[in-house]
Amino acid sequence: MPVKDLRSWIAELENAGEVTTIKGANTTEEIGGIVDIYMRKPGNPAVLFDEIPGHPKGHRVLANILTSHQRCAIALGQDPKSTHRDLTQWWRKYFADKPSVPARPVNGGPILENVMKGGEVDITKIPTPRWHEGDGGPFIGTACLVIMKDPDSGWVNAGCYRIQSHGPNTAGLMMSPGKHCRIIMGKYHDRGEKCPVAVVTGMHPALFMLAGLEVPYGKSELDMAGGILGEGVEVINMPKTGLPVPAHAEIAFEGYIAPDDKIMEGPLGEWTGYYSGEARPEPVIRIETLMHRNNPILVGAIPGVPPNDNTFYFGAYRCGAVWNQLEAAGVPGVQGVGALEAGGSRFWLTVSIKQMYGGHSKQAAMAAASCHAGAFNNRWVVVVDDDIDPTNINDVLWAMCTRVDAREDLEIIRGGWSSALDPMCYEYDGDRRNTRTIIDACIPWSRIKTFPKVARNSKELEAKVREKFGKFMPKNG
Ligand SMILES: Cc1cc2nc3c(=O)[nH]c(=O)nc-3n(C[C@H](O)[C@H](O)[C@H](O)COP(=O)(O)O)c2cc1C
Repeated sequence: MPVKDLRSWIAELENAGEVTTIKGANTTEEIGGIVDIYMRKPGNPAVLFDEIPGHPKGHRVLANILTSHQRCAIALGQDPKSTHRDLTQWWRKYFADKPSVPARPVNGGPILENVMKGGEVDITKIPTPRWHEGDGGPFIGTACLVIMKDPDSGWVNAGCYRIQSHGPNTAGLMMSPGKHCRIIMGKYHDRGEKCPVAVVTGMHPALFMLAGLEVPYGKSELDMAGGILGEGVEVINMPKTGLPVPAHAEIAFEGYIAPDDKIMEGPLGEWTGYYSGEARPEPVIRIETLMHRNNPILVGAIPGVPPNDNTFYFGAYRCGAVWNQLEAAGVPGVQGVGALEAGGSRFWLTVSIKQMYGGHSKQAAMAAASCHAGAFNNRWVVVVDDDIDPTNINDVLWAMCTRVDAREDLEIIRGGWSSALDPMCYEYDGDRRNTRTIIDACIPWSRIKTFPKVARNSKELEAKVREKFGKFMPKNG
């Protein structure tokens, strides 16, 4: 069995007709311009760029990676026909069971096919796009792993944080407050030491997906990815820092971040669909080793106006995580959770419940707006009855149009957990907060038996005509 790596995933995409190749696009604007267009329509294939001007043939860039449920499903080893709802259920189970297979140290691997040290290091030789016209430069790290080891416990964390290329051996790194690698880096700096770091770009997407999610503090994403892949990720230790990187990765580099060593980083168009400001001083990685496979493939997961590369898989994960946390908080009768692509899968949550008592819907709404998986950067929570599919925006808007009395059903919560990326956040008590709105779009509990009947097929009639006239049924409904 071949090792599960980026190339094995691309081969699966090729079999499924989920990837297309474009030759001759440049890194300065054309690759980014093409990806912007591909990302707008969910279901467009991934794009593999080859014959990139100024770079050897075969040195490629892969982008628009996870903007279809099919490609997300293939990455998770699931049926390519899986729906958003199936993947939500998959993430629910994954985070309930937390399967984990430890990473396996090995002595070699394709990542060692090309190793450059000291003065030989030049990351600018890797084709690296400027992804949007207004970006501060080329970003080598978007779908990447940033790997650090906790100096106290030895825990190895892998997080996905953007990395800007600044020159042959210099890269900027932007980690928001509270992110695990930022906490680890702080420990080295508090001791007056430089922080060892490794960066990987071009690995099996299961690794990237986990690096971009809120995996609990102290857990290793490398081991948890093994739980998805069904095999331990083979790792080698980088020569200077000793940090583990996947032996079958495409590109990896290592170096150190010294205390107070900063560089003007950004901006990068973000997942909200906006720039969050100007360039700011951020930590800088002084690179000591660069390695890559023959014919390396840089992978991009490009934020931008949603839908974008982080809204599909992230939406299914977030719905699953919120659903689990609602149940853990004792909210009964949850039938489904939906996140809206347009909200970057963060700003909007819909929860569908089977109403059981007065106040049940408000309870579900407040819990969804404040549980850990739901709280960050949330703006809207809508609770609907169980006849509404929370992933069908038309149904959700219909419920909002016909079941809401704003005098009773709308609440505004001030001072929510936000970040500078939210264009509508505000300064409060020294940090960034937002307001969030709860909309109870359920039939009022007191009218549940008398509310006008819904003018739609009963379940029985629906099943009967679908069975008898199955071959005439429309494909999309
Ligand atoms: C494509 C992508 C890019 C991201 N870029 C950043 C970033 O630049 N800075 C950041 O702090 N978080 C970023 N995130 C979010 C973090 O990856 C996410 O919060 C993750 O939980 C961080 O790992 P940690 O929990 O180990 O800190 C990004 C996520 C994705 C999917």
